[in-house]
Amino acid sequence: MSSDSFSGHLRSALFLCTLLFFLNPSSSSNSDQRQFLLKFKSTLANSNSLNTWNEETHICNFTGIVCNSDKAVTEINLSNQKLAGVLAFDSLCSLNSIQKISLGSNLLHGTISNHLSNCTSLEYLDLAENFFSGEVPDLSPLTQLKYLSLNLSGFSGRFPWKSLENLTGLRFLSLGDNPFDKTPFPLEILKLYNLSNLYLTNCTIEGQIPEAIGNLSLLESLQLSDNYLVGEIPVGVTKLTKLQMLELYNNELSGVFPTGLSNLVNLQQFDVSTNSLVGDLSELKNLTRLESLQLFENGFSGTIPQEFGEFKFLKQFSIYTNKFTGELPARIGSWAEFEFIDASENYLTGSIPPDMCKMGKMEKLLMIDNNFTGGLPENYASCESLVRLRVSNNSLSGQVPDGIWSLPNLGMIDLEMNQFEGQVAANVGQAKSLTQLFLANNGFSGELPVEISNVSSLVEIELNSNRFSGQIPANLGELQKLSNLYLQDNMFSGVIPESLSSCVSLNEINLGGNLLSGQIPASLGALVGLNSLNLSGNKLSGVIPASLTSLKLTLIDLSNNMLIGRVPQPLLLVAYNGSFAGNQGLCADRSKVLPECSPVSHKSGNVKVSVYCFIVGALVFLLSLVSYLLFVKMSKIDRKSPIDRGGSWNVKQFHVLKFSEDEILRSLKQENMIGKGGSGDVYKVVLGCGEQLAVKHMWKSEPESGSWRSSRSSAAILPKEKTQWREYEAEVAALSSLRHMNVVKLYCSISSEDSNLLVYEYMPNGSLWDQLHINKKIKMDWSVRYEIAMGAAKGLEYLHHGCERPMLHRDVKSSNILLDDEMKPKLADFGLAKIVQTGKVMDSTHIIAGTHGYIAPEYGYTYNVTEKSDIYSFGVVLMELVTGKKPVDPEFGEYKDIVFWVHNEMRTKEELISLVDTSISKDAKEEAVKMLSIAVHCTMKLPALRPSMRMVVKMLEEIEPNSFTDIVIEKVGETDVSLCKN
Ligand SMILES: *[C@@H]1O[C@H](CO)[C@@H](O)[C@H](O)[C@H]1NC(C)=O
Ligand SMILES: *[C@@H]1O[C@H](CO)[C@@H](O)[C@H](O)[C@H]1NC(C)=O
Ligand SMILES: *[C@@H]1O[C@H](CO)[C@@H](O)[C@H](O)[C@H]1NC(C)=O
Repeated sequence: MSSDSFSGHLRSALFLCTLLFFLNPSSSSNSDQRQFLLKFKSTLANSNSLNTWNEETHICNFTGIVCNSDKAVTEINLSNQKLAGVLAFDSLCSLNSIQKISLGSNLLHGTISNHLSNCTSLEYLDLAENFFSGEVPDLSPLTQLKYLSLNLSGFSGRFPWKSLENLTGLRFLSLGDNPFDKTPFPLEILKLYNLSNLYLTNCTIEGQIPEAIGNLSLLESLQLSDNYLVGEIPVGVTKLTKLQMLELYNNELSGVFPTGLSNLVNLQQFDVSTNSLVGDLSELKNLTRLESLQLFENGFSGTIPQEFGEFKFLKQFSIYTNKFTGELPARIGSWAEFEFIDASENYLTGSIPPDMCKMGKMEKLLMIDNNFTGGLPENYASCESLVRLRVSNNSLSGQVPDGIWSLPNLGMIDLEMNQFEGQVAANVGQAKSLTQLFLANNGFSGELPVEISNVSSLVEIELNSNRFSGQIPANLGELQKLSNLYLQDNMFSGVIPESLSSCVSLNEINLGGNLLSGQIPASLGALVGLNSLNLSGNKLSGVIPASLTSLKLTLIDLSNNMLIGRVPQPLLLVAYNGSFAGNQGLCADRSKVLPECSPVSHKSGNVKVSVYCFIVGALVFLLSLVSYLLFVKMSKIDRKSPIDRGGSWNVKQFHVLKFSEDEILRSLKQENMIGKGGSGDVYKVVLGCGEQLAVKHMWKSEPESGSWRSSRSSAAILPKEKTQWREYEAEVAALSSLRHMNVVKLYCSISSEDSNLLVYEYMPNGSLWDQLHINKKIKMDWSVRYEIAMGAAKGLEYLHHGCERPMLHRDVKSSNILLDDEMKPKLADFGLAKIVQTGKVMDSTHIIAGTHGYIAPEYGYTYNVTEKSDIYSFGVVLMELVTGKKPVDPEFGEYKDIVFWVHNEMRTKEELISLVDTSISKDAKEEAVKMLSIAVHCTMKLPALRPSMRMVVKMLEEIEPNSFTDIVIEKVGETDVSLCKN
């Protein structure tokens, strides 16, 4: 044996040993690895994306798996795969070679206990954007960690800051958007001198930013926004010269910028908005690489440095609500693909910089409440990217360049309170996206172009206090989305267009202070959503149409016209004292402010008045006759029993019946009426056998208008077409096939030619709304509220997932959750429900359904309704249950609702606890807070971020009062299908 070959053998032996050494301890064998991976998969509720994870495929070919050359799993890359369920973290750490676990942006939940001790080779861990609960476990075993991302993961409580101190390899650390317990700035982080990226936004840090932050000299991104930081920005920050991003917004920072901030010449994104910073911007004038500068809501003053006009990369510039003076640099925003400026609420003067849309990308020009002068620069007339143009309350003047009116993406034109002149050009008819047109308080004149009726996206028109003249365009009724129409204080003449009655979304009409003449169109009574009607100060004549009494008005003002006749009694109830003043010919019965209608006053010998009275009397008589005849014809009602029992009735039964339809019909008397629902009157019927039923009586078409009447609190606007009835029948059929203990039971439907009865089980405790907001006397303790939430959630889960054809409810709200004698909840009122077909809602007509305060935000701009919209509404119900507040309440602030309020107040656990209804006992408050956080998930703005109803049920199960067991989900999905098959 030559020494060469000996050493050769030695080498191969050594190689073998090394190989064994490496293979052995790390050799969870191939089959072991497969077991670990399949165990991980088995705990997931939704693993559709993992169908390659099976017994046949080689594990290294599993979706998302990366192996090394020894076929040992080193990486799991499964972020953003809609994975739901509990994470079996321990089985992942049993893969001894695992270096990277990437599971961010999924729907994982449950806790992670201390299973990290076997994860020592982990370099990359991403669990961000999930729904975990409990505390973050001790991280100190992860000594190789370079990348840790846990933002918006759901973890809470004490964060193990101490366990970070030796993880000096960390370069990327992201812990923000979690409700961790309050802490001063964690000093352990100052030892992580390799950090280039630190994200601690919104994780409850208080106190000062330490001076030693300057030690983290490799930082390129530092984000500490949305915390409780106080004091000045430390001088230490000026040492971080590699910084490209510095975000400190929404803290309580004060004082001026530290001297030397101008060293941060690499800064591209700088955001210190919403603090209490003061002083001028001279430290920023060298920061020539800035792309985004956000300084809004502070106390900054002085002028905007002229240097900003030469910043070649600037795209976003927001300085609103400060005390800036002087002029904006003329060339600001003219270099890069500038996106937006918001300079509102300052003391700026001079003209609007003309070139911010030079690169064709500008979306927002916002300069409200300043002292800008001059005109709207011509250049913006070709700025097709523009979405919002708001310059109200300045001293701008001149004509508006014609092109502005027809910009294809412009959603809002707000020029109010300036001195603009000239006309609205006819090309406004080509505006494709315009929803809000605000021109009030200017010097606009001329006619409103008829083409405005083509702008079908319009929701609000405010043209008041100008010098518009001519007729109101006759086709305005084509604006189906129009909700507010303010034309008051102009010189419009002619008649009120009859077509207005087709603007089915109208909420407010103000045509006061014009020169309108003719009669008030009776068809306005068809505007079921109308809240406020002001026609005062015109030259309107004739009688007040009786049809207006079917409106649910909160304001009516018909004063100072030439109206005559009797004011319909119901209108007197909503009127204020001046509502009908200044109309010589009006009278009323039993009104303090108007003359009595009859008997005719003889005091005045004036013939003219008597003739007047005669005409009025005749008219009133004729009107009453006509309405009486209509009433009789349409309703076939007699006062004792609202049902004509002579007709022929068709009974469809869905459950075994122990009663006859005759028994039902006999009980439908006025005295048994218990409410007016969304689409009909509801009666309570007690049968001979003592059984109680609820019967809803619906018309197939509403008398007079032929449209459905929406309930008082409901924003539902239902289509007029009678063909809808057939769809409704289809839905009743669908509802009749539902069988679930949390869905109200429909026994049968009884229909005749013109009306329809739906016979339901009777729910003696009324609705959840009644119990929470009306009947406050009955205290609902936590376990009752929890059971209601859980039951309602299961009912909705059943609709969404339990049946062959999933169904959307579309009007989930506390008044549609009824309570039986044991306070068990059942979903009711399926008048708006829709069956989902192939992922799309069967919906030919664009119907705005749902109820104000419960409607998901996506409703506002698309009609793309999915089950996620129901989930939003359910989240609102959970908020009601926990806080005891109504979804919409003035206490939340103007235009704000409970969702805004809760999301806004939930920064710390203490704050969350303070939101809980005071009548919930102290020891239940922690649980209530957990329910609130589920509600917050359900009401996320982006539908994709809301959990499914199935997830919601699982999450509610986890917070069941007095349960300490960790629920592991086995196969969800098979258990409750049987329910549907009865
Ligand atoms: C993975 O799949 C590819 C293509 O299907 C195949 O060629 C390869 O042999 C597979 N790898 C293993 C380790 O089975
Ligand atoms: C860590 O690995 C060891 C050996 O493979 C095993 O006995 C132990 O149970 C594991 N620990 C955890 C917490 O999984
Ligand atoms: C960090 O390392 C030091 C020195 O080895 C040790 O004393 C300390 O306990 C470690 N900290 C943690 C949290 O493990």
